[in-house]
Amino acid sequence: MDRIRIRGGNKLNGVIPISGAKNAALPLMIASLLTSDTLTLENVPHLADVEQLLRILGNHGVDVAVNGRRESQTESYSRTIHFTCRTVVDTTAPYDLVSKMRASFWVIGPLLARVGQARVSLPGGCAIGTRPVDLFLDGLQALGANMEIDGGYVNATAPTGGLVGGHYTFPKVSVGATHVMMMAATLADGTTVIENAAREPEIADLAKCLNAMGAKISGAGTSTITIEGVTSLHGARHRVLPDRIETGTYAMAVAMAGGDVTLEGTEAALLDNALDAIRMAGATVSETESGLRVVRNGNGIQPVDVVTEPFPGFPTDLQAQFMALMTRSSGVSHITETIFENRFMHVQELARLGARISLSGQMARIEGVSGLKGAPVMATDLRASVSLVIAGLAAEGDTIVNRVYHLDRGFERLEEKLTRCGAEVERVSD
Ligand code: EPZ
Repeated sequence: MDRIRIRGGNKLNGVIPISGAKNAALPLMIASLLTSDTLTLENVPHLADVEQLLRILGNHGVDVAVNGRRESQTESYSRTIHFTCRTVVDTTAPYDLVSKMRASFWVIGPLLARVGQARVSLPGGCAIGTRPVDLFLDGLQALGANMEIDGGYVNATAPTGGLVGGHYTFPKVSVGATHVMMMAATLADGTTVIENAAREPEIADLAKCLNAMGAKISGAGTSTITIEGVTSLHGARHRVLPDRIETGTYAMAVAMAGGDVTLEGTEAALLDNALDAIRMAGATVSETESGLRVVRNGNGIQPVDVVTEPFPGFPTDLQAQFMALMTRSSGVSHITETIFENRFMHVQELARLGARISLSGQMARIEGVSGLKGAPVMATDLRASVSLVIAGLAAEGDTIVNRVYHLDRGFERLEEKLTRCGAEVERVSD
């Protein structure tokens, strides 16, 4: 099994191209189920989660054509992928596929909207928390669907004549349930209003693509989304927006290791809150023509308290990385996780590098230390794994991050991007 070895101590200097957003690409790919025409997506990142979803969509009858090409002077690979679902050949999403990636549950919305039925395995538990699906079920019921759970599967059926527009207020903000309800409502008869919708940039990106396909969605990116149903959607071409979590991760890596790096092809507006936290920690972050420039030279790292929240708050997907940064601050900081109940698995691993962190419920207290020491570590989810890479960049000696498949789910060519900026990071295969 592959591992990543990081020899700490080098500053980062250079350019890091930011890839298309994983969490935008996944729902956009699923939207291809809504039309018999071709949906073309540009800037699709090359990630294990994307490959897994290609398999799942293939099972439902989506034909996929991939054109790889080199983009930009820094040779970031992004792919243009054409998705065509002439006919839905299978409305079942089986357990062995859905259990590998929670987002595959989201096919339930488009299948229900297009062919009136779906049988989708419950995703099951996952490392960062229980993550139930009640909000999906309630949201789709508000569109007239009948939802039954049987043998670990959700059996969903639309009324004769198809889904109908409805009004639904989410009791809790959910990114996935907002994506699904929005997709399902595009083909419903009448108008749907979703309140307390997720406001993440990936929601607005999906709405932009659906509108290019002929949908009538307004308000995406705010907490009230209105969807006027249409009878059919057509093909479109859409570019996946830049990955704000990858952006924040590398910005925190520079803040941790020191140096001067331009994050190419990204936008500050996607992660204002996290950038503010990075600035308070002592780095300079400025917008440039090509993206963002992050610099930390000379300044120490200051302690900063953060609380994770739905967008536009501090993202839970950057919590572990920020904690890694705070392990080297000159004081005490507190990080509170409010989205997932079990997203602190990196704490024990950071401690192996010499970090001083104590947990009390959903709050971590981090006492900065003057140095970390490399060690073998492993983590059980994607963002936790990359937090260990960040810590390793500033640790003395070698840090070996095991279970690299977590990183491959969400970070395109991580070791190459860091190495080009002067870090000593390599993939080691047994
Ligand atoms: C999305 O997951 C992201 N995944 C996650 O990124 C991200 O951490 C999360 O949103 C929060 O920002 C993708 O976009 C593919 P939620 P999602 O539904 O949609 C609870 C990563 O590392 N909830 O917004 O699954 C849930 O348990 C991943 O890239 C219910 O209670 O998250 C959680 O506490 C990890 N009932 C909260 O809502 C439901 O029916 C928010 O979850 C649905 C969710």
